[in-house]
Amino acid sequence: MLEIIILAAGRGTRMHSELPKVLHPLAGRTLLQHVVDTAQTLDPERIHVVIGHGAEQVRRTIASGVQFHVQTDQLGTGHAVLQALPHCAPDNTVLVLFGDVPLINATTLAQLLPAAEHGLAMLAAALEDPTGYGRVLRDEHGALVGVVEQKDASLAELAIREVNTGVLAGSAALLSSLLARVGNTNAQGEYYLPDALGMAVKDGVPVSVMVTEEISDILGVNDRLQLEQIERRYQISQACNLMRQGVAIRDRQRIDIRGQLLCGRDVSIDVNSVFEGTVILGDGVSIGPNCVLRDVEIAAGSVVHSFSHLESAVLGAQCSVGPYARLRPGTVLGDGARIGNFVETKNATLGNGSKANHLTYIGDSTIGEGCNIGAGTITSNYDGANKHPTVLGDRVFVGSNSTLVAPVIIESDGFVAAGSTVTKAIGPAQLAVSRARQRNIDGWRRPEKSKD
Ligand code: UD1
Ligand code: CA
Repeated sequence: MLEIIILAAGRGTRMHSELPKVLHPLAGRTLLQHVVDTAQTLDPERIHVVIGHGAEQVRRTIASGVQFHVQTDQLGTGHAVLQALPHCAPDNTVLVLFGDVPLINATTLAQLLPAAEHGLAMLAAALEDPTGYGRVLRDEHGALVGVVEQKDASLAELAIREVNTGVLAGSAALLSSLLARVGNTNAQGEYYLPDALGMAVKDGVPVSVMVTEEISDILGVNDRLQLEQIERRYQISQACNLMRQGVAIRDRQRIDIRGQLLCGRDVSIDVNSVFEGTVILGDGVSIGPNCVLRDVEIAAGSVVHSFSHLESAVLGAQCSVGPYARLRPGTVLGDGARIGNFVETKNATLGNGSKANHLTYIGDSTIGEGCNIGAGTITSNYDGANKHPTVLGDRVFVGSNSTLVAPVIIESDGFVAAGSTVTKAIGPAQLAVSRARQRNIDGWRRPEKSKD
């Protein structure tokens, strides 16, 4: 059986952050959550997470399915593994992953594991720039000698481009016996996990080294530059996957998906849009530049124009939203509805074909079909203490610059004259006019500027 130990106790000094390193987000999930999610796909008997720095904070972010072990002092990766090993069954294969190597790939891991049945198995990679990583030392026949950390390496060793990814596997019993003997006489005064590799070689224990070509998968996050680098690589790979499925993405370098983006056929996405949570775009949906969509579902043929911000909203087919629209949580648009520029909606339903094209706030409202909400209309939903609903039937016309003071009902075919303040229910097909009458005064003399 397989057990997985994920190391996540380090401070992440090089991040210069209050947030524990493994809680920094990558594409909308913490680094640690990426690793836990990948670990889960391998179907292990147990997942152990070693926590230390910011332990409580880290514990809170992982919902379930893992066992935590606290490493009170961060004395090194070898010491960290020893916190979890006593909780593993001796005959089980233990796979060690690092919480700061977020994109480690389950397929690669599955390929590595069989070798751990007969000794140790490690994952290595050749990097263009190996700075910061432990270097893989081999003898003149190419056989593994061990791993030397950046800070302990000689100049010649620093020139080696083959690095330790940190991924290592072996039986719990073997790892325990090796790590019990690992010392801390090195540049950092730490108990290094990779020292177990050199020790195994010396003991004559078989150590198999698998070299992966998937560089993106093994990159570690030690500082914010590396985090940004991994984020970009990940975003580009997501964009490429979507394009392969038929999504027209204008520029793979300028899209951010921080969650799940599911697209139908012929969806097009212009530059600089951000997708968070779960976003579902139906066939032919078009997203303009510079939009933010979080937990949004949009049916076929709808268009979201540039600079729009949509959160927890459901849009029917053939809708038009924006530019510069803000759809807040609880917005539901029927088919063919239109929300124009500088319109804000919150907890609002607009029926099929209803429109609010300019400069409007619609909150806590239920609006029927075929309504027209004029420019500058405001639902006055908040009395300073409570929120109240506004309800409109079908084909209601609200003239520009009206205030609908909730709670209020306008029945079907009701008509509100421009500039009205509506405080009472309007019956079917009634016209409501609620504004001061205009007076025109003849012979009006303009004020003049005083002389002194
Ligand atoms: C480590 C490896 C290095 C490898 C690199 C790959 C060691 C000594 N070095 O270096 O060979 O090339 O990863 O990315 O293992 N941690 C603990 N407790 C500790 C120390 C660390 O839980 O006492 C955790 C950290 O939170 C982190 C992981 O272990 O998630 C790796 O630690 P880090 O200090 O980042 O090691 P590197 O210097 O990157
Ligand atoms: Ca690291």
